[in-house]
Amino acid sequence: MPQTEDVRSLYTAFQEEFRSVNNCIAAELCSDVALVEQIGQHILGAGGKRLRPLLVLLSASACGYKGTQHIVLAAIIECLHTATLLHDDVVDASDLRRGRLTANAHWGNAPSVLVGDFLYSRAFQMMVRLKNLAVMDALAKATNVIAEGEVMQLANVRNLQTTESEYMRTICCKTAALFAVSSQSAALLAGVDETRVQAFRRYGEHLGMAFQLTDDLLDYTGDQSELGKNPGDDLAEGKLTLPLIHALNQRPEAVSMVEQALAADGPDARDPVMQLVNESGALDYTVRSAHRQVEQAIAALDGMTHGTSRQALEKLARFSVSRMA
Ligand code: IPE
Ligand code: IPE
Ligand code: MG
Ligand code: MG
Repeated sequence: MPQTEDVRSLYTAFQEEFRSVNNCIAAELCSDVALVEQIGQHILGAGGKRLRPLLVLLSASACGYKGTQHIVLAAIIECLHTATLLHDDVVDASDLRRGRLTANAHWGNAPSVLVGDFLYSRAFQMMVRLKNLAVMDALAKATNVIAEGEVMQLANVRNLQTTESEYMRTICCKTAALFAVSSQSAALLAGVDETRVQAFRRYGEHLGMAFQLTDDLLDYTGDQSELGKNPGDDLAEGKLTLPLIHALNQRPEAVSMVEQALAADGPDARDPVMQLVNESGALDYTVRSAHRQVEQAIAALDGMTHGTSRQALEKLARFSVSRMA
């Protein structure tokens, strides 16, 4: 995946740790059931940005962690993330992920759901090995909240009354919760005090919000070859994200046009909605909302970390809105 020069330097700084995280993930994919390994390898081998493991490694380092459990923690979080992707692509009927056919497009829905379950349960087995109840508690809660977020979103498909605050709550659950627990659990491993743990949690949560807001923006403005997934999917699925929610707030008289466009078949039917979103200033509004989250993420770190660690975490936060993929 393309990355800006800035963020590439973060991955380079943690090169050794990343090698260990990838080895750990590969070892945990082992199964006597060939299809489990095939599907696991298909999605995990495609890479992805590995942003959540990076967040774990950066946070652990910023909190002065000296052990090796952060490697396993980063692998656990990537396995949880990958499990949510396997399930999400079934729910969203998506056919492209990380530049490859989705597992559901390749093998069908049932194997995707079941291998998603395998990855979830493997992640919990790995968590037990950490023998850290506070970390396990935080990860178990986050996993539960992500599922709620996905259901919340499903319940609001094609609901043109969806408000901005309902949308923010949904993305906080489905996406920001995993970012929040990544930095929080790294801080917990390091054994820092509760104030710092909560500051790292807030940092991750705002970063996750900025990340999903940008993802929803890119669904309107992004490029398939860069994204490795299909832009336009949100609208095609009737998913109301901030660009459309804000456009409808600006132009409430457009509701029936949008209703008809969402009910009609074929990409051309959605052109008037794209035009509405483009002309209403909703894309700019979404960019500004994402930038506010970045500033809140950085502010959460005030007095909590200094020097190169703080610079690295700031860089990561800014990458969440400047990314093209
Ligand atoms: C995809 O996350 C799911 C969302 C929360 C938007 P990423 O964009 O981090 O996916 P990969 O891991 O890089 O493929
Ligand atoms: C991302 O959902 C959140 C989870 C996977 C839980 P989306 O449906 O918005 O993300 P993409 O566009 O499929 O990556
Ligand atoms: Mg999806
Ligand atoms: Mg989805």
